[in-house]
Amino acid sequence: MKTAITELFGIEHPIIQGGMHYVGFAEMAAAVSNAGGLGTITGLTQKTPQDLANEIAKCRDMTDKPFAVNVTFLPTVNAPDYPAIIKAIIEGGVKAVETAGNNPVQVLPYLKDAGIKVIHKCTSVRHALKAQEIGCDAVSVDGFECGGHPGEDDIPNFILLPRAADELEIPFVSSGGMADGRSLVASLAMGAAGMNMGTRFIATKEAPVHENVKQAIVDASELDTRLVMRPLRNTERVMTNDAVERLLEKEKRLGDELKFEDIIEEVAGVYPRIMMEGNMDAGAWSCGMVAGLVNDIPTCKELIDRIMAEADEVLARVGGYQNAA
Ligand SMILES: Cc1cc2nc3c(=O)[nH]c(=O)nc-3n(C[C@H](O)[C@H](O)[C@H](O)COP(=O)(O)O)c2cc1C
Repeated sequence: MKTAITELFGIEHPIIQGGMHYVGFAEMAAAVSNAGGLGTITGLTQKTPQDLANEIAKCRDMTDKPFAVNVTFLPTVNAPDYPAIIKAIIEGGVKAVETAGNNPVQVLPYLKDAGIKVIHKCTSVRHALKAQEIGCDAVSVDGFECGGHPGEDDIPNFILLPRAADELEIPFVSSGGMADGRSLVASLAMGAAGMNMGTRFIATKEAPVHENVKQAIVDASELDTRLVMRPLRNTERVMTNDAVERLLEKEKRLGDELKFEDIIEEVAGVYPRIMMEGNMDAGAWSCGMVAGLVNDIPTCKELIDRIMAEADEVLARVGGYQNAA
């Protein structure tokens, strides 16, 4: 399947693995890229720019296909050294960057000068248009369903994607709630040139996370995510657990008085304990509603091949209806 996205990134299938904290290591990115999609290393998971440079080199050893690095601009406790991160990406010869969280205008000129393709992930049409205006090559349109940060507008993809298609000139991929061939065909129908997945890729053999995390996604239904940190205007969709229910109780009790310090125990520094040690109640971790559609733990190649075969079947079936009418 050739689309504007496969052409832009030089990949075989229009499927991207979004950056994921403590999941997007070289093993994950290389597995997705080797399967014909675009894998992504999560820049901020690496403790220093030198660590990121090493992770990029490791990924290059594991695949000769293109892969991306995610650079997230989010409120964090200690601001990362973004110039050094960008330098590591450029010097590492990376060809694609996924930016997210905030307007990437300050880093864009350096990436563009180095010939790097930039896809900006955003949750609203106005931010997508801004990304287009400042020179991003593509956008990843992240609907309310998504795992991670859905923004504050709460617009699901059935509305957001066609709205993006009506306004944008640059290509975009759907993101949030995507799992299978049906998702891909629906995304194409709504004007996207491919799809981005997060949660679905965690439940794969190669995802370098504890088995408990994969099993939690397989076991979860579409009812098992919660929105946290809305009072701080930093909304995150997470898998529910004891820590999340405690966090929500604090939000309810403190109302407008809530400060980040009040919930630090449930959200700060919890990812290593969850993703690496498999301590599933350690705190809040991002997970999409799409967990309800995830029922197995295939390899990335099995997953991507299955998505493409299913997309063909769906297209044939939809075409059939059209012919019947
Ligand atoms: C565990 C996890 C961690 C994530 N971490 C990041 C991150 O660090 N930066 C980012 O831009 N997006 C992050 N995301 C969002 C994903 O890249 C992707 O946009 C999202 O998962 C899409 O929704 P889906 O989970 O329904 O597929 C994360 C998602 C998950 C599930």
